[in-house]
Amino acid sequence: MASDEVYRASTFAPVNIAVIKYWGKRDPKLNLPTNSSLSVTLSQDDLRTHTTASCSPSIPHDSLTLNGSDQDISGARTQACLHELRTQRQQLEDGDSTLPKLAAMKLKLVSENNFPTAAGLASSAAGFAALVRVIADLYAFPLTPTQLSRIARQGSGSACRSLMGGYVAWEKGVEADGSDSVAYEVAPAHHWPDMRALILVASAEKKDVSSTAGMQQTVASSALFEQRVKEVVPKRMRAMEKAIHERDFAAFAALTRKDSNNFHACCLDTDPPIFYMNDTSRCAVRICEAINANHEASAGKEGPVCTYTFDAGPNAVVYYLADNEEEVVGVFKSIVGDKTGWEGKRGQTVKRMNDAGALK
Ligand code: ADP
Ligand code: DP6
Ligand code: CO
Repeated sequence: MASDEVYRASTFAPVNIAVIKYWGKRDPKLNLPTNSSLSVTLSQDDLRTHTTASCSPSIPHDSLTLNGSDQDISGARTQACLHELRTQRQQLEDGDSTLPKLAAMKLKLVSENNFPTAAGLASSAAGFAALVRVIADLYAFPLTPTQLSRIARQGSGSACRSLMGGYVAWEKGVEADGSDSVAYEVAPAHHWPDMRALILVASAEKKDVSSTAGMQQTVASSALFEQRVKEVVPKRMRAMEKAIHERDFAAFAALTRKDSNNFHACCLDTDPPIFYMNDTSRCAVRICEAINANHEASAGKEGPVCTYTFDAGPNAVVYYLADNEEEVVGVFKSIVGDKTGWEGKRGQTVKRMNDAGALK
């Protein structure tokens, strides 16, 4: 083998936005959550990470650049992903001497997010899903998305849900080694294809408290959080799966907004309190309520027609059905169009969810 031979793979990974939120780790080392969660994978034509992985005997050390700047990859979570992927590649090479010796080579990773990083729009989800998927492709692993999700989870919890399209659950699992803490598809995107998401970017700034740090502070100090984990989420997970299977938008909408509000209440109940939502976020909540009230006030119309959710950041994700596009997106655009505080990709409509099932 020539020493300048380069092996390369490239992949896209979509963002997913949880409707039942993951918040809290029972094992920070393995990234095992305190509760199960459920999300909708958005279209990778819109918000997505694109990552290329190369390996070659001439690459001197592992590296990752994100949107052109060098990243520190010495952290335990990135290292856990790289170690696991290399170990599995080594096993393949041990069983087949004709395979090129990629496990021993250093990796050069080049990644681009086409949306704000660390601003509450799930960059860690798309980012680590792309990182794990692209190395698995480079190493020619015959692994299913669920098997890969166990590895991606160790990079960032929410990443395990970005390996699949449609409606995806992350089962918290019971095993101490995390072997059953994986993502599975609740329903493919084509099961409920008219679901839409409107992303309202209130701020593209990096958040002050990362998700990782924020959830650990909540686990350590919030009494409300104990009730969330024990009582609130388990019931909501079952109800949300049912709402999705039955394509029941009213149930989906109520569960989504209540779970977002319960999660942000736990942030407020954290000591010291964490504020991810801001005045602009609260304005988005009021607009959603007004759109729904207006719809329900019209003769013969049942609601709601939209619902909202906020991750660990101020940016709103508004879910609605395609038939109600004008009623929802039209109103948002007319109200927030030029309002100071809504910037960048304001009013961006995510047109279609990824219906690829598994990513290519
Ligand atoms: P977010 O709300 O955007 O998910 P987090 O605080 O959870 O914010 O995570 C942000 C971190 O995720 C970044 O600081 C970076 O370490 C990591 N990350 C984001 N995008 C990528 C990417 N494309 N590749 C690798 N890591 C990424
Ligand atoms: C509010 O997956 O970013 O978006 O596992 O520490 O990387 P780490 O946290 P992360 O947390 C996401 C929190 C959330 C809810 C969700 O996506 O379920
Ligand atoms: Co994140």
